[in-house]
Amino acid sequence: MDNNLQTARLFSCNNLFFLLLLLSSNLITLFISITFSSSCSLKPQLQPSAVEPPPPASTEDEKRETSNLAAADLPPEFIAFTSPQKLPFGFNKNFDSDQIFPPVGSPCTLFPDELRRYMSYKVNGSCPDDEILAQKLLLRGCEPLPRRRCRPAAAAASAEPYPLPDSLWSTPPDSSVVWTAYTCKNYSCLINRGRTQKGFDDCKDCFDLNGREKNRWTEKRTSNLDFTIDEVLAVKKPGSVRIGLDIGGGTATFAVRMRERNITIVTTSMNLNGPFNNFIASRGVVPLYISISQRLPFFDNTLDIIHSMHVLSNWIPTDLLHFFIFDIYRVLRPGGLFWLDHFFCVGDQLAEVYAPLIESVGFEKVKWEVGRKLDRGPELNEMYLSALLEKPLKNSW
Ligand SMILES: *[C@@H]1O[C@H](CO)[C@@H](O)[C@H](O)[C@H]1NC(C)=O
Ligand SMILES: *[C@@H]1O[C@H](CO)[C@@H](O)[C@H](O)[C@H]1NC(C)=O
Ligand SMILES: *[C@@H]1O[C@H](CO)[C@@H](O)[C@H](O)[C@H]1NC(C)=O
Repeated sequence: MDNNLQTARLFSCNNLFFLLLLLSSNLITLFISITFSSSCSLKPQLQPSAVEPPPPASTEDEKRETSNLAAADLPPEFIAFTSPQKLPFGFNKNFDSDQIFPPVGSPCTLFPDELRRYMSYKVNGSCPDDEILAQKLLLRGCEPLPRRRCRPAAAAASAEPYPLPDSLWSTPPDSSVVWTAYTCKNYSCLINRGRTQKGFDDCKDCFDLNGREKNRWTEKRTSNLDFTIDEVLAVKKPGSVRIGLDIGGGTATFAVRMRERNITIVTTSMNLNGPFNNFIASRGVVPLYISISQRLPFFDNTLDIIHSMHVLSNWIPTDLLHFFIFDIYRVLRPGGLFWLDHFFCVGDQLAEVYAPLIESVGFEKVKWEVGRKLDRGPELNEMYLSALLEKPLKNSW
């Protein structure tokens, strides 16, 4: 009972905070976003709920009322997971506490219907086959999703992956995927969809390893926006780029190319109408299932390189993008490279919003190439920026 009460209070405070955050974030210019988001008073509102334990209820009635509410609104498995968990050996100096609050994205409770469906399953049974529901919740901010005590949907019979190095450029067996969430029901459909399907799909032709993927980042194209991997690596001493991240890396051809150069790259991807994470893993490189909203799960000053193509663009709310680029700066080591590959926006936005935003973070410019994006017609005045940025070796703090 006590646990439920605390959870309910914790979440109502956080909901309020996120509502404020939503209301305050918008597509205004850098000037306004710096003035408001760096000096606004959201911080003091976050701290009481996130750091200090919630105050005890004043009366028994109030206590009962709140816990009834929690029980009615939140699925029992959700409460079981998020309730404070006592450490078996009591107070721990590292935690500075005798309990843990297992984390979920604070917005989870803003979507009670979806959350209830997501957390309804038989404990120790099979999870529902609900990838679309889970991804929607996650993309809206319920990230991380709560853990579940059930077994995820999987094909009735799977096979071992192809061995390295064959796996890097092979289409995996269809049995490595649960196809429920996707329009295509097998890899041959995904490979051909660039030619056969109308309409937009994220990374529509990426599953075709014999198509455009084959030469990405290895062949110098005619455009000043296309850097090659070798040209980028040549900026640093041989061997000094060893580990890194590709944000929104599609089917992870970047990571595969880097692996062929003995560089370890982790690739973040969603599964937007395609089994991107399964495919990446089947190739033999590491997929990371986090959205662009999630704090990068790496320590400060650690990675040698971060690459991102087509993903960081003007569809991302400006404040979120500003936080994101600072997070990239944070995890890159001094001397680390940020390869912003084909950042996309419209005409004046580059000069007025995005160039100042990127420049404000503190990278040194190694390459900075701007070009027109013409695939949807010149009248739309669309622009690309490809940049190679370096975190300073000295005085990066
Ligand atoms: C949990 O599920 C497994 C597999 O179905 C079963 O073997 C086991 O007995 C179950 N355990 C409990 C405690 O129900
Ligand atoms: C793959 O799926 C498509 C429909 O999405 C179907 O027409 C085709 O026969 C399937 N191919 C194989 C090899 O299963
Ligand atoms: C990668 O490492 C292996 C084993 O150390 C080595 O034989 C190979 O030459 C390296 N490849 C490249 C491209 O550096």
